[in-house]
Formats: sequence, C-alpha cells, structure tokens
Amino acid sequence: MELQALRGTSDILPEDIPRWLSLERTIRRLARLYSYDEIRTPLLEEASLFRRSVGETTDIVQKEMFQFEDRSNQLIVLRPEGTASIVRAYLEHHLDKRIGFAKLFYCGAMFRAERPQAGRFRQFHQFGVEAIGSHSPWIDVEAITLCQAMLSACGLPQSRLWLSSMGCKPDQLRASQKLRERLSLHRSSLCSDCQSRFDKNIFRVLDCKKESCRAIVWKEKTSPFILCAECQAHYDQVRQGLHSAGISFDDTGIFARGLDYYTRTVFEFRAKGLGAQDAVAAGGRYNHLVEELGGPSTGAVGFAAGIERLLMAIPKGTSDSSTVSRHGIYVAVTQPTLIAEGFRLSQQLREKGIAANMDYDSKSLKAQLREADKVQAQYVAILGEAELAQQSITVKDLGQGTQRTIPLDQFIQEMSHAANHEQ
Ligand code: HAM
Repeated sequence: MELQALRGTSDILPEDIPRWLSLERTIRRLARLYSYDEIRTPLLEEASLFRRSVGETTDIVQKEMFQFEDRSNQLIVLRPEGTASIVRAYLEHHLDKRIGFAKLFYCGAMFRAERPQAGRFRQFHQFGVEAIGSHSPWIDVEAITLCQAMLSACGLPQSRLWLSSMGCKPDQLRASQKLRERLSLHRSSLCSDCQSRFDKNIFRVLDCKKESCRAIVWKEKTSPFILCAECQAHYDQVRQGLHSAGISFDDTGIFARGLDYYTRTVFEFRAKGLGAQDAVAAGGRYNHLVEELGGPSTGAVGFAAGIERLLMAIPKGTSDSSTVSRHGIYVAVTQPTLIAEGFRLSQQLREKGIAANMDYDSKSLKAQLREADKVQAQYVAILGEAELAQQSITVKDLGQGTQRTIPLDQFIQEMSHAANHEQ
C-alpha cells in the first residue's frame, strides 16, 4: 500500500503556504493592535492538566485525547486545546505576579482523536487569545470584538455570532437540573452520545449536531439558564458593550459550551456553507480555571478559532491571502560550463538579501526559462560567454515581458535596492 498521511491529518503544500502565512500575518497584526503578546507552549502536556481543566466528562477527555505513557510511566497527551496549557504556563512562570493582567495570543497545532469528516480533523490548527486577570465584562467585549475583527480581516465573508451566559457554578447546577427535567421525557429519542451526556455533561446535549437531538432541544424555546443578579448584570453589560461596538449577535438561541471550565459569557462564530462543523471560532469566560489549577481566584476570558475551517469558509482569491506574486531572480546559464559562474552570481544576490534560484542539471536555456516561469520568478538573469566577457547580464522581466542587457554592477545595485524596498 502507498504511504499516506494519517486519516484526519494533512500536508500543507507549498502552494497553500501563502494563504497560511497571510492569515498568520493578519492575526498577529490584530493581536498586536489589541495589545496581546504571543506565547508558545509545548505540544506535549501531562494528561492530568486537561482532566482537571477541560473536564473528566467531556468528549475531549473521554475519547478524543491522543495519550500514551512515556518510559517513566507518566501519562502524556498531545494537547487538544490551548487554554489549559496557557493557564498552566501563566502559573508556572508566575505571570500573575510578574505582569498581573496577562493578554496572551497563540497559534499552533492541536490534536483530537475525533472521527474525521469535512471540517473536523485529528491534527488541526488554532489561533486564539486568553486574557487572564480581570473580571470586567469589557474584556469579554474586547475579546469578542477582536475575534470578529480577526475573522473578517482574514476574509471571512459572513458569520453569525451566538452569545449566551452560562452563569456561575450555582446557576449551572440549577440549569442542569432544569435541563434534565425538560429532556427526561425525550431521553430515549436522543442519540446514544447524548444519552450518556445526559447524566455526565448535560450541556453537551445543547451542542449536539444531530438533527434529531437539535429538534428536541429546540422544542422548548427558553434557555435553561436563569442567572443570579450578578451574572445577569455582567451579561447585560457585555450585551450593551457589543451594541455600542456595533457588533450584532444572536442571544435568543439555546446555546452552551461543553468544556467544563466555562462560566458566564460563552460565544461562537458560525460561518455559512460549512455544514455541521460550522463553528469557526468559539470561546468564553472561565473564572475558576486558574484557581482549579492551583492559583488564586482570577477572572479570565478567551477564544480560539480553527484555521482549517476558516480557510474552508474564505473563498480563494477574494482575500489578500491567495495572490501569489512573482518573486526573486532565476539565474539561467547558456551552457553547463557556466554553472559555477551562475552559482557565484546566485550567492552574490542572496548575500544582498535577494532571492535567487537556478538549475544545476544542465538543462537547455529554453527549459531553464520555462522553469523560471513555473517557479514564478520575477526576473531571469541570463549569463552567457558574451555577458561574462563584458561583465554584463541579460535581464528578462517575466512580469512585463521585456529584456535588456546591463552592466552586472548596475544589475546587482538595482536588485538590492528593490529588495530593500520590499522589506
Ligand atoms: P473549541 O470549541 O473546542 O474551543 O475549539 C475552538 C475552535 O477550534 C472550533 O470552533 C473549531 O473552529 C476549531 N476546532 C475544534 N476542533 C476541531 C477539529 N477537530 N478539527 C478542526 N477544527 C477544530 C477551544 O478549544 C477552547 N480552548 C476555546 C477557548 C479559548 N475558550 C476560552 N479560551
């Protein structure tokens, strides 16, 4: 059998890289604009980190973690998400004491042993932010605003923001009892996953993508969450803040998030045309997580967006992300004996910061020109005996279709000037 990438994983080929780089540039620019600093945490973590944060009863922990024992019998996992790792790093490096309120941004691979399908992968990439150290509803507003700004700057044409509040722990206890009462009559009609969620993590039923479960959940039009006065005031302030920031949202849905650490505000951006896996970004507040992982009581909020899903929802060619422009110089030699001269010239260009490429396989000049076009070079620098004797070079501009022979010094000067300008 031919060797293939594992199911649910994929190669990002050179032709896809410009879209990824452009997206990463865009989100980094916006993160800076909102004063979030980048953090990078390991791909490997202790399994207990996610058991204690995401929660024992969640799908992620119950069946989606890639986990193994290392040689010293420590249970290790490939991180399924970023929030828990970032809170661990925040505590481990005493960021609470060093910077107090930490606004952190991240981007990287995550791993979940899910059943792969359109928009659902086993290795995928997220970017996200975590603002740790504030209870203010304005931070919720800022995180949601930033999330929307990032999605639209990446070229997402349309998305819908779902908003809800899951309240505090006592509110959640009341809501889960209420939801259980409501759904108990229909329990046998729920899918098998939801039947086991019913006892273990009832809020996950609200998140089920199966039509039959959705129909049952949506029969009752009102949210099971009845918030205490403080949580209600927080939620009202978030909604007012979003109104004044001009961000429209839908808070009429029966919506909750299935990770254990959420409290109060939860939200999800859903995009059109993605089918069942339509959540491109999601997040919320998690006011107990820092404490649960051994730190002081600390308010925190964040979100993460799935890069593959986002790229699926962004039409190719409409954003600045997909234009591949001609770039660099292809050094072509008129005969194989000039390869060493060609190599010397390529090195000279590279040392000046100019991208240079060439063929070492003694191809004909015609084949080299074809190759230069294929690799999208901007110029071909043709080096022949005559050019060598006169210390000149024949320059073909592949974009413009023009050609001229100029002194070599002038060529290098012009090119390095253009390269400096590009940077
Ligand atoms: P999540 O809802 O599990 O939340 O994931 C966030 C986003 O990651 C999803 O909306 C989706 O776009 C993408 N995603 C998740 N699983 C997959 C998958 N198997 N394949 C492709 N994309 C996927 C979290 O991860 C939380 N840590 C978000 C958060 C940050 N909450 C507070 N701070």
